[in-house]
Amino acid sequence: MSAQPDLSQDWKQQYQSRLATLESALGHIRSGMVIGSGHFAGEPSALLAALGSRKADLQDVKIYNMNGVTPQAYAYVNEPGWEGKVRHYSIFAGSQTRKAVQDGRADYVPCFFSEVPRLFRDRLIPINACFVQLSRPDADGYCSFGVSCDYAQSLIESSPLVIAELNAQMPFTYGDKIHISQLDVIVETDHSVLEVKQSEPDGDTSVAEAIARHVSALIPDGANLQLGIGAIPDMVLKFLKGKKDLGIHTEMFSDGVLDLIESGTLTAKNNNVNPGKIVATFIGGTRKLYDWAHKNPMVLMRSVDYTNNVLVASQVNNLVSINSAVQVNYQGEVAADTIGFKQFSGVGGQVDFVRSTGLSKGGFSVIAMPSTAKGGAVSRIQPTLTPGACVTTSRNDVHYIATEYGCVNLRGKSVRERTELLISIAHPNFREGLHKQAVELGFLK
Ligand code: COA
Repeated sequence: MSAQPDLSQDWKQQYQSRLATLESALGHIRSGMVIGSGHFAGEPSALLAALGSRKADLQDVKIYNMNGVTPQAYAYVNEPGWEGKVRHYSIFAGSQTRKAVQDGRADYVPCFFSEVPRLFRDRLIPINACFVQLSRPDADGYCSFGVSCDYAQSLIESSPLVIAELNAQMPFTYGDKIHISQLDVIVETDHSVLEVKQSEPDGDTSVAEAIARHVSALIPDGANLQLGIGAIPDMVLKFLKGKKDLGIHTEMFSDGVLDLIESGTLTAKNNNVNPGKIVATFIGGTRKLYDWAHKNPMVLMRSVDYTNNVLVASQVNNLVSINSAVQVNYQGEVAADTIGFKQFSGVGGQVDFVRSTGLSKGGFSVIAMPSTAKGGAVSRIQPTLTPGACVTTSRNDVHYIATEYGCVNLRGKSVRERTELLISIAHPNFREGLHKQAVELGFLK
């Protein structure tokens, strides 16, 4: 569709001429098509679910999206009988697509989140159609991307066929927006927006609390934060009360941010690029958060090639990123999206933000994780990554690593020093063995 709106006609007439039922909208999909789709709480769940009506006649359709989370949207991924009909390509193995990726019934595409729009715009993923979920239009005929700006604009601009569900319950957020004339087919929906509860840490919360305390101690007043996905970043938010004038320049935020605003901790006044704004590309939380974000001038929702663009984010002073990991080796290589050969999630914005903090004036990054996994059975700090695991953040990019036993800065440290520092924050049950291995492998003398 056109990258520019057509303002020469009355948008209400344009709207009426594009209106379709779900069934007739899906009738535009042909065998062999490549479809790009929105994701997370803004995924076009009604359109994806309605694909079921085409199960009998579609062949060789490919659907690309990022983090798939809505259960009813993924029958074509998780139910039998879809082989050869519709295949899923995931840029972040989310909760609804992870198993299929791991079992080889769906594919995984490695990519930094900031680059996803470019994959569509440069036709590296050459889509013929796209599905997006938007808010209902404002008085001028513009829809908001609601809780998911992400790469939706790039889908719309690169796709010859744009099918949009306009959900009456999608909040209208300020920032990027799209005109009715840029949509080909409009389906009116009215369903609840997927609510995403904050992650609960595995088992004993004292581990997550101890990590959050260490991380919180590093964060200066006036810092601008990016918080990643997972139990630890969620817990860190709870330990920030009492700080002054924090800001958020991130890819996503959740309900934890509301508490910080209510307590006066988060004012965003030190965001030198977008003063007073909470800047994000997607939101994942409860209805309370979505209602708060609706027409809230404090919220600025922009495409991911803005929020996660190193050239933009690095301009934000005192940018501090907090993300999590499954494993770190003595070199400081971080595995966050694979567990051995298993694709567990995706790179997301971890590397975009780690690199941006490295360039931001006063910025730094933290990778925070429990010292162990599997109920304490394995150390997350290891001499080498498990075979099959991929490096998410490289040893050249990494700054702080935090566990419940402390927080160490690897930046500027030699491999020998890194080994000593990492063993010092490993679980005490593993320290002796890790030290022995370090000597055997030549990391330590
Ligand atoms: N060996 C074996 N299993 C491991 C492991 C290891 N080293 N580390 C973690 N696991 C297992 C856990 O035991 C847990 O298993 P369970 O679900 O059966 O209990 C599972 O993997 C998840 O681990 P956990 O650390 O609890 O996950 P989390 O919800 O806190 O998320 C990441 C952590 C790293 C997976 C998550 O932050 C992520 O996906 N990061 C990559 C993307 C990113 O950082 N993006 C940033 C912005 S979105």
